[in-house]
Amino acid sequence: MSKKWKQQDLDYCWHPFTQQREWAKNADQILSIESGQGVWLTDDSGNSYIDGNASIWTNIHGHSHPVINAAIIKQLDSISHSSYLGFAHPLASELAAELIELVNDTNLKRVFYSDDGSTAIECAMKMELQYRLHNQQSEKKEFIAFDQAYHGDTMGAAGLGGVQLFHEKISHKGVLCHHVKNLESLNELPSEILNRVCAVVIEPLIQGVNQMRPWPKGMLKELSAWCSEHDIHLILDEVMTGFGRTGTMFAYQQEGIYPDYICLAKGLTGGYLPMAATLTTEKIYQAFLGEFSENKTFYYGHSYTANPLGCAAALANLKLFKEERTLAKLPAKIQVLEASLAQLKATHPQVYEVRQCGMISGIELRQANGEKFPVEARIGHHICLVAREYQLLTRPILDTIVFLPPLSITQEEIKQSIQAISSAISQLMVEF
Ligand SMILES: Cc1ncc(COP(=O)(O)O)c(C=O)c1O
Repeated sequence: MSKKWKQQDLDYCWHPFTQQREWAKNADQILSIESGQGVWLTDDSGNSYIDGNASIWTNIHGHSHPVINAAIIKQLDSISHSSYLGFAHPLASELAAELIELVNDTNLKRVFYSDDGSTAIECAMKMELQYRLHNQQSEKKEFIAFDQAYHGDTMGAAGLGGVQLFHEKISHKGVLCHHVKNLESLNELPSEILNRVCAVVIEPLIQGVNQMRPWPKGMLKELSAWCSEHDIHLILDEVMTGFGRTGTMFAYQQEGIYPDYICLAKGLTGGYLPMAATLTTEKIYQAFLGEFSENKTFYYGHSYTANPLGCAAALANLKLFKEERTLAKLPAKIQVLEASLAQLKATHPQVYEVRQCGMISGIELRQANGEKFPVEARIGHHICLVAREYQLLTRPILDTIVFLPPLSITQEEIKQSIQAISSAISQLMVEF
């Protein structure tokens, strides 16, 4: 191991969601991605791979896109950052107007910027709690979220999380949250609890970290109606599903509902820079207006809020959706993905289930007899390592292989990616 960066990594760095002892033990497997072009990533040894998880579900139009690059560089020549606290910025204003235009089928009218998916959720939670105080409903300070949900890792967002493995070590998170399995269990909650609930938070159409598990069709619409009936607000976590992933610009549009908040991040800048937005209604916004002395101000913000480089990237991202007709090209790609996944399932007895929602997919592997593989076998992890040999980079969630590429991927590249997973399964299953 002669590379200096690798030694520095091992000596000084700590990676997310990573057992560092294993990371160090398998140092020969560590890749450094040095460049990207379209859906292709190139490592430090010059090997190229399809970006099969869109660089952790962020990238939309491909890497090094000339339009997004140019927008960032243009902004860089003016200023990279200045404060949004006490100042405005034309690109932030323009972006807010465009986002509101995109959701003109809802009551959402205001945009509050933050940094990433977790802070977009955090912001919605704090806004909601303060709204209830201003609305003389101080008893409404509990949330409802779903089992196996994932909404981020800051303390508030983690408080909504339903993945035991991630959050059991920090169970005193300070957020009062009731976790329910589905709509039926929601209906079983007693009214004493419901009276204390301010909002339900959900990943619309599909739960990502729950191994890419779609909700039944119509569930979101029913949930929305249930919320209205109970004076409970609906917070949509579109951090993963936003910006075309499910086939429409936003997932909620497939069920025609009126959310009270939408949280956006990952794809907002096309996957180029960390930036997030929490959209809310005029009714909620108005509840924060008053004389300074009334103390109704929303005391929330981050140093890099509405970063101009991020805004420039986000505006270019939205421009590309129009110029490249990104959404119009999706149905054909979604079909190819569906057919490729069906073929994969038909080929391998170890493919227990394939799950898909638009351009989001998960391939769950089990033993041929339907039983799960032993956890310590780490089959998903090993399949992804072998898939590298077939020019595909992705990450599993347990034994579910995630395939969630940039939307700019071609039909041929979709087929090639699923073929890479197929080859990896064939190769590894012989060894297993
Ligand atoms: C649905 C959902 N919400 C929130 C988050 C947190 O986003 P971030 O990692 O940008 O904080 C994620 C991240 O994967 C996510 O999938």
